[in-house]
Amino acid sequence: MLRAILKAGIATAAILAASAALGDDDTVTIGLILPMTGQQASTGKQEQAGAQLYIQQHGDSVAGKKISLIVKDDGGAADVTKRLAQELIGNDKAKVLMGFGLTPLALAVAPVATEAKVPEIVTAAATAMITEKSPYIVRTSFTLPQAAAPMAEWALKNNIHKVVTLVTDYGPGNDAEKWFSDTFTKGGGTVAEQIRVPLKNPDFAPFLQRVKDDAPDAVFVFVPSGQGSAFMKQFTERGLDKSGIKLIGTGDVTDDDLLADIGDPALGAVTTHHYSADHDSPENKAFVAAFKKANNGLRPNFMAVAAYDGMALVYGALEKTKGASDGDALMDAMKGASWISPRGPISIDPATRDIIQNIYVRKVEKKDGELYNVEFSTIEAVKDPFKAAKN
Ligand code: DHB
Repeated sequence: MLRAILKAGIATAAILAASAALGDDDTVTIGLILPMTGQQASTGKQEQAGAQLYIQQHGDSVAGKKISLIVKDDGGAADVTKRLAQELIGNDKAKVLMGFGLTPLALAVAPVATEAKVPEIVTAAATAMITEKSPYIVRTSFTLPQAAAPMAEWALKNNIHKVVTLVTDYGPGNDAEKWFSDTFTKGGGTVAEQIRVPLKNPDFAPFLQRVKDDAPDAVFVFVPSGQGSAFMKQFTERGLDKSGIKLIGTGDVTDDDLLADIGDPALGAVTTHHYSADHDSPENKAFVAAFKKANNGLRPNFMAVAAYDGMALVYGALEKTKGASDGDALMDAMKGASWISPRGPISIDPATRDIIQNIYVRKVEKKDGELYNVEFSTIEAVKDPFKAAKN
């Protein structure tokens, strides 16, 4: 036993010596900070797998630099996220920070990124204003206004006149509520009630009873990734799936990670989002097959694709800078970058550092016995409307 520990100790020392010998100049360390445990653990699992798949497919060196990915678990606590970011920069000499499973976690790191001049690539959190909190923040996930406004446009054209909104009560939920409601009412629709539920351990039942009592044509829902199953379980238990009230929302509630678990009650739900595992493109078919192969059949969701694209953004930037990894050079290289993602064509808006991407309207359907968000309409190259409205 003691011998085994000693051996392990020697092995670790050897690895440390090897990486020290490489020196800062030859290695680019990326600190990936995610909730690997706790309520948001599914985001961590999907994002880690997405980032690792990118390295597996593209190799661990680019522009003469060795890429070292360090994954840290913040358990979804913002003070931990911030401390890990500081340690990654101070101790591990990380040149890029990535991840951030919830809005408060991304916000906690903004001052650290600014002070250290280290890019903070937000691959999960989706409140619109996050990118305004540091000139070193860039995003490959999405924004709630980007996804929610098109849902209102679709509802207005599809015989939905009265809606109740039900969102998780924090940044992204408030964005979703505002951009759905404003767009819907401007187009002549009525929002009968705006309901907010807590982020931590929500009990949806009493809120769903209010939705039922309001008897709208549809309920518009935002819950963060990972909470869709709990929501849909109570939606069904309250009989809302048979009430004639249509379920619409941003695609977070019919997350690819959860659809199999939710089962038939999700059938017919219409959502707007930037990624579906069912997206029909050669790039996505290859991505889904490789992701499943590397992860015991796990289906990738929108978190996995955002982390995969976060890595693509870093690799592309390092190619442009010919391996230079100082924060300003990397940020310059990332602004305006564009490529074909598994979700379709994407680019980084050089003015806002936010992602420009297609938003798809999708309906949950069964295909060969499995539930999918089947895309049936595309709104191309959508910019975050929150920032577009200010410029
Ligand atoms: C956020 C988290 C999510 O899981 C999601 O689906 C959308 C937004 C967030 O905290 O910003």
